[in-house]
Amino acid sequence: EYFKERGHRIIPSSSLIPKDDPTLLFTTAGMVQFKPMFAGTVRLDYTRAATVQKCFRTSDLERVGKTKRHCTFFEMLGNFSFGDYFKKEAIEYAWEYSTKVVGFPVEDVWVSIFENDDEAFDIWKGHIGVPERKIVRLGREDNFWGPAGDSGACGPCSELYLDRGPAFGCGSPDCRPGCDCERFLEFWNLVFNQFYQDETGKQTPLPRTGIDTGMGLERLACIFQGVNSLFEVDTVRKILDHICRIAGIQYKDNEKKDISIRVITDHIRATTFLICDGVLPSNEGRGYVLRRLLRRAARHGKLLGCNRPFLYEVADTVIANYGEAYPNLVEKRDLIKRVIRLEEERFIETIDAGLEILGNLINKHRAEGALPGEDVFRLYDTFGFPLDLTREIL
Ligand code: SER
Repeated sequence: EYFKERGHRIIPSSSLIPKDDPTLLFTTAGMVQFKPMFAGTVRLDYTRAATVQKCFRTSDLERVGKTKRHCTFFEMLGNFSFGDYFKKEAIEYAWEYSTKVVGFPVEDVWVSIFENDDEAFDIWKGHIGVPERKIVRLGREDNFWGPAGDSGACGPCSELYLDRGPAFGCGSPDCRPGCDCERFLEFWNLVFNQFYQDETGKQTPLPRTGIDTGMGLERLACIFQGVNSLFEVDTVRKILDHICRIAGIQYKDNEKKDISIRVITDHIRATTFLICDGVLPSNEGRGYVLRRLLRRAARHGKLLGCNRPFLYEVADTVIANYGEAYPNLVEKRDLIKRVIRLEEERFIETIDAGLEILGNLINKHRAEGALPGEDVFRLYDTFGFPLDLTREIL
């Protein structure tokens, strides 16, 4: 509503499979469906848009489950300008929305800017009135975003953080946004698209600058719901609880089991959406990513004592949660559940055979502290045992 009132067209989420973009396996951010508009190759009859976009990222896959905040699937809230407003308005909107609409106390909001972005600094300090000590300059790794895929729009960014107080912090006198601890929670990224980066990494100024922002819905929900974990946001928690019911266990009883519970929760949410958008398990590309997630979830299920297919049942809770916002999920319920169940059945056969072979190999090579590459390859190639599982078990 806020952005609609300010002239933004509300556009539905695009598919998790990017359209006509061979450089990108999945939709990783709200801006993906607008890449041609940012690059200037396509013009629309509107220059401002806002979305709630389903996103899927594998960049944090190894950490999913081990922490309370990493995930593969999430929803991103964003407002966009294609050659329309730029830094000043983007910052004004983000500030007003955060402090007036969401209602974060002004004194608790900090910001970061790209190290040499004096223009953003002047807007935050001079125009908005944020004190200098709360405007942190960070380098390229933190505050330069894009492109999504091999080429596309990119630029310096400015992020908004909520100071959750010293109780969440590391206690260091240098603790500020950018610190690894939990005190400053980044909730909104404003990207000032100024450059086009080609496949070779060369950047040239864009003829029309743009704005691409992204705020994590689940992060916002964590703050609103007063929980310190993505997995305790109401919608996500329902999925987690369903898994615990099936496994007959309690969350927060045993850290090792909690990791498995979180992996399954994340992966079943992601795979339900991926299948709905047309990804099917296979041995390459998107289908392989889906297969890996399903097999990983199934293996963690096995660690919890679930020796029969069960993920397909949890998909019902995912659909119940999100079916209203994404009616496709309801329409494709049967397909989604069938695909998951079939993959689970196949995996149970594979895993039982593979685990036995791997167990023997581990015993045989224990003294060397490593398995020969040929054995690892044979497990995958002949027995269909995924490399990442072998790696995780080792
Ligand atoms: N594209 C930016 C991001 O993903 C802002 O949406 O953080």
